[in-house]
Amino acid sequence: MTMNPLQELGEKHGPTKRFHDYLKWYWMHFRDIREEVKSVLEIGVDKGTSLTMWRDFFPNAEIHGLDLNPDCKQYEGERIHIHIGDQGDKSVLEAVQKAGGPFDIIVDDGSHFPEHQLIDFRFFIKQLAPGGIYVVEDIGVGRGHDRRWLNDSMKGLVDHINYWDYDIESEGWLEMGRFPEHACWLDKNIVGVSFYRFITFIMTGDNPGANPFLRVREK
Ligand SMILES: C[S@@+](CC[C@H](N)C(=O)[O-])C[C@H]1O[C@@H](n2cnc3c(N)ncnc32)[C@H](O)[C@@H]1O
Repeated sequence: MTMNPLQELGEKHGPTKRFHDYLKWYWMHFRDIREEVKSVLEIGVDKGTSLTMWRDFFPNAEIHGLDLNPDCKQYEGERIHIHIGDQGDKSVLEAVQKAGGPFDIIVDDGSHFPEHQLIDFRFFIKQLAPGGIYVVEDIGVGRGHDRRWLNDSMKGLVDHINYWDYDIESEGWLEMGRFPEHACWLDKNIVGVSFYRFITFIMTGDNPGANPFLRVREK
């Protein structure tokens, strides 16, 4: 099998995510933004191997890692910053955001407790850099009492992407390029969600601006 360049870096650095075959999806989503990405956060450092992989993959980015285990501090290095703390603690998330945000990319590969995954998603999603991407690994197979929480929550994003204002009577499709005041942040700023087995990518951007029906209006 031919490996893509990220899979090759995975073989070199050895992050656990290479075992789950996630690197083919990461490559698909990140290959075109390699040069532009300035700041990356991965929750869950372990041996620091995914951080060195991201550092080699994103040549212009500062790479931040958050982990509960104080021993992870040893993996700090060139363009790599380590934050120690609990991903379930909002004050820790605030400190990380202050130190390295806004992040272009956040990967949650930490505790895998659905409650932590939700706390972090809710905290960070609105603070990503424009066009930022949020990734949750091991969703649906996480630890804790209800593994489906995050699946259900992520599925719900589809309704925000396909936002439809039922109050609009005339012009229909064309009006959907402009969302009303009462549309919520998720309606306006989530442009895509990609599900693969046990990993989900959430893409932010200008949802009404990215509406394909706008092109019709411009003609
Ligand atoms: C699966 S490993 C990370 C693997 C790494 N990202 C990679 O790709 O090689 C999970 C890490 O999450 C950390 N962790 C567990 N619970 C956490 C929590 N509540 N807050 C922050 N980190 C946590 C663990 O200490 C462990 O290092």
